[in-house]
Amino acid sequence: MKSFASAVLAAAALAGFTAHAQDAVTYDAATKVFRIDGGQVTYAFGVNDLDELQPVYWGAKLVTGDPLPAAHTNEGHASFDLPTSTTPQEFAGWGAGLYLEPALKITFPDGNRDLVLHYVSHTIEGSTLTVRLKDIEREVFVDVRYAMDPATGVLGRSAVIENKTTTPLVIEQAAAATWTLPQGTNYTLDTMTGRWAGEDALHTEPLHQGERVLESRRGSTGHQNDPWFAIERAHTNDQDAGDVWFGALAWSGSWRITIEQDLLNQVRVTGGYNPFDFGYKLAPGESLATPVFYGGYTHDGIGGASRLLHRFELTQILPQRPHPKPRPVIYNSWEATEFNVSEAAQEALAEKAASIGVERFVVDDGWFGQRKTDHAGLGDWYVNKDKFPNGLKPLIDKVHALGMDFGLWVEPEMVNPDSDLYRKHPDWVLNFTGRPRTEGRNQLVLNLARPDVRAYVFGFLDKLLTGNDIAFLKWDYNRNWSEPGWPAVAADEQKQVYVKYTENLYGILKELREKHPNVEIESCSGGGGRVDLGILRYTDEVWPSDNTDPYDRLLIQDGFTYAYTPGVMMAWVTDSPGWMNRRTTTVEYRFLSSMQGGLGVGANLNHWGPEDFATAKHLIAEYKQVRETVQHGDLYRLVSPQTNGEQSGSEQSVTESVSPDKSQAAVFAFLHSSTQGYPYPLLYLRGLDPHAQYRLHWMTGKPGGQLPEVASGQYWMSAGLALNLIGDFQATAFRLDKVQ
Ligand code: GLA
Repeated sequence: MKSFASAVLAAAALAGFTAHAQDAVTYDAATKVFRIDGGQVTYAFGVNDLDELQPVYWGAKLVTGDPLPAAHTNEGHASFDLPTSTTPQEFAGWGAGLYLEPALKITFPDGNRDLVLHYVSHTIEGSTLTVRLKDIEREVFVDVRYAMDPATGVLGRSAVIENKTTTPLVIEQAAAATWTLPQGTNYTLDTMTGRWAGEDALHTEPLHQGERVLESRRGSTGHQNDPWFAIERAHTNDQDAGDVWFGALAWSGSWRITIEQDLLNQVRVTGGYNPFDFGYKLAPGESLATPVFYGGYTHDGIGGASRLLHRFELTQILPQRPHPKPRPVIYNSWEATEFNVSEAAQEALAEKAASIGVERFVVDDGWFGQRKTDHAGLGDWYVNKDKFPNGLKPLIDKVHALGMDFGLWVEPEMVNPDSDLYRKHPDWVLNFTGRPRTEGRNQLVLNLARPDVRAYVFGFLDKLLTGNDIAFLKWDYNRNWSEPGWPAVAADEQKQVYVKYTENLYGILKELREKHPNVEIESCSGGGGRVDLGILRYTDEVWPSDNTDPYDRLLIQDGFTYAYTPGVMMAWVTDSPGWMNRRTTTVEYRFLSSMQGGLGVGANLNHWGPEDFATAKHLIAEYKQVRETVQHGDLYRLVSPQTNGEQSGSEQSVTESVSPDKSQAAVFAFLHSSTQGYPYPLLYLRGLDPHAQYRLHWMTGKPGGQLPEVASGQYWMSAGLALNLIGDFQATAFRLDKVQ
């Protein structure tokens, strides 16, 4: 017989919500402790004896009623380290005796630079808590916000700083939050670094006393560091075991995350606007909101951390949340034709693309203005009449007739000096008066913080989408800032560009989506130069790297998925040998490498023979059977190719994706090169239902090993599966479907 409790839970699930014994946010007035619960996580902090917010707990979910101690200021450490520095705070102003990273640093016009924030009040609305802080003397208020995702336990933290004094003040440093880990020394830090065509290399290093800085000073997210971190306690090589705290900053402008281990081995992570060259003038009555810094905890290792982040991004961040549509199979001719686009040539490629099952045809750079090379045309967003004499309509109609939808490349924030736009508005770019304007790829950055530039960019995009049946924009951004001046505003307001530029970028994307709700957008920045949880609120997918070498991609894609869901990760099958490494690989190897995310084809189809078309058609059909699992399922890295930031990946790479209901799994396995006849490592799958039976289906032309046709989930996870991968650049893939 069903118990009363389980009947209530079942009814609650039917009604679309889950019953919680513990409210998401509770406040204990006796101890002055706030407790926030979500997923398998409890987060708690208190108001201490000095009225500061002091962290108390962040980790595995506690039982309702478990004791959470009241917060008490720590002793100082000799006369050199005052209690302000030895007591961790949730959101510390730079003032009193703080020697660690502050969350907020302000200079007042009278020269005062001391800021000490104390608790004033709080409000709780559902799973959101807002705590109001105020300086001990001045009318500077900070609302610190905590929004808990009940499903994943990922907590979003941010702050709004309000100037209620009668004079302007300058914010020199503003973080979204400081995260504090349990005191200890056995921590390992995971970060990601990269560069153009070499993004997302994972580094794992022991945490030591001192500060580690991850940042971008470039005006946008950058290829160099991902705004993401993970900290493992007692690091093991098992991807799916161990305590991990992780976080991701949702900001696409200059940003910084610092990881500090202080003198008493307290680890704190502070992230927000990059204080380098910051200096936001806040007039009386104005406020500044910080980006959101998301943080989570898991007991299931770095693999568990990424699965939580993936789920969170799919259900809480992406524009089509909570159920984003799977990415269609695309064709893009950039690598095949570069700027040499024309109606006839694109139509010929479209016919071939449609024949293999492509669903979206994308015209890349070169279709507009006087764009023959990267020296001219950016900014002039009219269709080039030589290449498309009757506009884009004939090509779009043709693409539709072939059963595909149509996408177009744009780079809205940039201008070539050789353009009508720049000749007319040389003052529209970022610049310092009288100083050189440093070009990158022969282009300059339009200052999107300017209202007229914002209006222009929105206007031409709106017109393009209104006048043409366009389903998709590839939004590119091919350089970083230089000389970030804004001469049109007063000198002491120019640094607001670091905030207002990115806010306007988000604003344009938001308005475009509202006005054209069926249009999907990709964030590209010379590959993965602008990928973060901020841009992902407005874009459906990203281009992780211009490097389309299928072997290099295994490493880049593995790294990418520590922070971002494969549901946004586009990957194209391009020509072989590839331009990057002149490496030769089979069509099958290239497809399997690209099928681990959103699949695209970027090869010159005019060079393909009948066998290539047949392989492509077969694998695209196979991909469509697993894409929901690959894009929205749970990812297990059975063999990660990471080699701790070394130049190349390891010999093997294996991913397994399991659908949320465990009815399907898709496995992709790769071998760089056999040596000394060693066999391929046995595979032990994860995440299946041990009691269910699963049927095997090879996606590739021939079996990749001698595996049973049907076996239990327990078998697939325990038996040790032997693949017969041998040779150079070998790959195989199979799927398991639950037998109903
Ligand atoms: C960037 C992109 C490429 C391509 C070119 C076009 O490099 O990352 O995919 O669109 O621009 O100029």
